[in-house]
Amino acid sequence: MDAVPDAAIRALTPSQLAFLEHLPKVELHAHLNGSIPLPLLRDLAREYASSPDAATTTSDDILAGVQRLQAGEAFTDIDDIFSVFPAIHALTSTPASLKRATGAVLSHFLDPPTSDSTYGSVASVAYIELRTTPRATPHMSRRVYLETVLDEIEARAPDAAALIVSLDRRMTPDVAQEVLALAVQLRREGRRVVGVDLCGDPRAGDMTAFVGLFRTARAEGLGVTLHIAETSGNSTAESKELLSCEPERLGHATYLDEEAREVVLARRTCIEICLTSNLSCKTVQQLQDHHIRHYLARNHPIAISTDDILPFRTSILGEYALLLAPKPVGLGLTESEVEAVARMGMESRFRNTLS
Ligand code: IMP
Ligand code: ZN
Repeated sequence: MDAVPDAAIRALTPSQLAFLEHLPKVELHAHLNGSIPLPLLRDLAREYASSPDAATTTSDDILAGVQRLQAGEAFTDIDDIFSVFPAIHALTSTPASLKRATGAVLSHFLDPPTSDSTYGSVASVAYIELRTTPRATPHMSRRVYLETVLDEIEARAPDAAALIVSLDRRMTPDVAQEVLALAVQLRREGRRVVGVDLCGDPRAGDMTAFVGLFRTARAEGLGVTLHIAETSGNSTAESKELLSCEPERLGHATYLDEEAREVVLARRTCIEICLTSNLSCKTVQQLQDHHIRHYLARNHPIAISTDDILPFRTSILGEYALLLAPKPVGLGLTESEVEAVARMGMESRFRNTLS
């Protein structure tokens, strides 16, 4: 069976496909290590297998994860997706491999070939805010990690690419504090850091410790986006706590209750919508039930995004195809509705609001 976004692309007429290809789009929610194009991942896995790291640190889980990724398997629930990141991280633990991964992710989004042997039809975005969690590895510090990614981002035009620094819910308070301080410091040094993110396994961590950090980020002029209410297990109290940081954008926001939705609507907080990700993780059962409908009906700002093209086997074109394709494969929006959605993404860039 076709993957969901592939089926939507196939359901488009040639003129609809051309419309989507030419529509100015942005990507505001893409995790670097979830967005590595499969051909590069295969190369990195091959090289890793013969490296000294593989001899000393490879666990069976990492090997199994790499094999599944190499085979181009799709990952189909939330446990599955979080189980694969350690394998990907093993492949991007040196400055050289991280630099290649960042360069390839930027090329995938900003200047892809018109047709890609792995992804089929692809389309470029005009601007990407790429996010990543700085990791300290035996080969680099967190600062070197961020500098390596920033060097690649800053090789692109200032209005084409920028970095969001992710804090992982599983971080200890000390590490989270260090990562926020790095984001602030690098921004003060004039590096292209535009925001911070809260990500990681939505079932992990105590968010109380993070709230102060995100308030500091805002005071420092950084944009704030938070993965929030991603699963039914995320409590109302947690969402309330996260909303108290007054983030400009929210990732997923699938299970916000009525009160939280009212807050979001009143503040015009942009919701980053990742349709295929939510369907793959099974946090949303069917496209026609997706909470995007709630926001579309209220003309509320949303940003259509991919989340992790590697495990979810999607693309920005695929995500837009899900808006435009007729029901039940897509949501059956008109071209002018899709155009308005794309404009909302453009207007929700952190680069818009930051100096
Ligand atoms: P990285 O930050 O570049 O290493 O990208 C991978 C990381 O992004 C993972 O380890 C997760 O913490 C985070 N991530 C990717 N997808 C999701 C998601 O759907 N929800 C929450 N976190 C995610
Ligand atoms: Zn995400």
